[in-house]
Amino acid sequence: MDKPPILVARAIFPEIIDQLQQHFEVEHNQADELWSKQQLAAKLAGKAGAFTTGGERIDAETMANAPGLKIVANMAVGYNNFDLPAMTQRRVLGTNTPDVLTETTADFGFALLMATARRLTESEHFLRAGRWTRWSYDMFSGRDVHGATLGILGMGRIGQGIARRGAHGFGMKVIYHNRSRLAPQLEAECKARYVGKEELLKTADHLVLVLPYSAESHHVIGAAELALMKPTATLVNVARGGIVDDVALAAALREGRIAGAGLDVFEGEPQVHPDLLKVPNVVLSPHIASATVPTRMAMAQLAADNLIGFLVHGKPLTPLNPE
Ligand code: DGY
Repeated sequence: MDKPPILVARAIFPEIIDQLQQHFEVEHNQADELWSKQQLAAKLAGKAGAFTTGGERIDAETMANAPGLKIVANMAVGYNNFDLPAMTQRRVLGTNTPDVLTETTADFGFALLMATARRLTESEHFLRAGRWTRWSYDMFSGRDVHGATLGILGMGRIGQGIARRGAHGFGMKVIYHNRSRLAPQLEAECKARYVGKEELLKTADHLVLVLPYSAESHHVIGAAELALMKPTATLVNVARGGIVDDVALAAALREGRIAGAGLDVFEGEPQVHPDLLKVPNVVLSPHIASATVPTRMAMAQLAADNLIGFLVHGKPLTPLNPE
């Protein structure tokens, strides 16, 4: 029997490609070029499945030439690159990679929080520039992490992981806001107290954003929200660009209306707003919160298992829009 044709839209681990080739006719973007929407649409033509990595837009336009497309497996827990209603309408299944990256991403969120609070990037730049001439009592004084109030906006699995690290590892007081309240047992495990959004913004010493991106969460942190935060507070985003209004954030950082920010994600990434590049009190990283070798491998494996599970055995592992 002919193997179903699939597209792997970005470079991924060779061992995953080997596995996929056992079941499918694989077209692989080994060169890892970033395709335009038109190029992606052309590549999807005639394919039964696709392996995407989070940056490829799957919507009516990109699926227009692919009437045989049955599944798109995203190697990411976030799936804001999918127009899920358009996929459902065309009976295209979307899958993502939940759970396997939770702890790794929570580790990184906490690393970014600590680096921001303790001004690690700023002080390293100072040292590398040869400007360190003596010890000084107020040089790069930051904010304490231990015992501080940790605010979490978006209390899914990753948010809970960050809460646990803060509460159990650093004796932080944890407050959170979420669409729905956690079950009492989970709140107790995370030592987290549910508060309204305004209280969260006003009270947190360190605010971490871990909510999914959607039309509702677009610019959920803008000028008005930043104005509620303490001038000593820090903001960390390991969720998605677009949740924060980067221009408003850069202005708040420049004017000292908040103390610092740690950002792994950006609106329009891989472009970063030039205003953010100009402010010193921000720690910037290129969307690497889930980037450890075992976790990226587990994500790739789960995406591949979804393709094999669905196209070969009729059963995906982590479907987003099951029939
Ligand atoms: C995710 O899984 O959504 C991450 O942002 C991708 O690394």
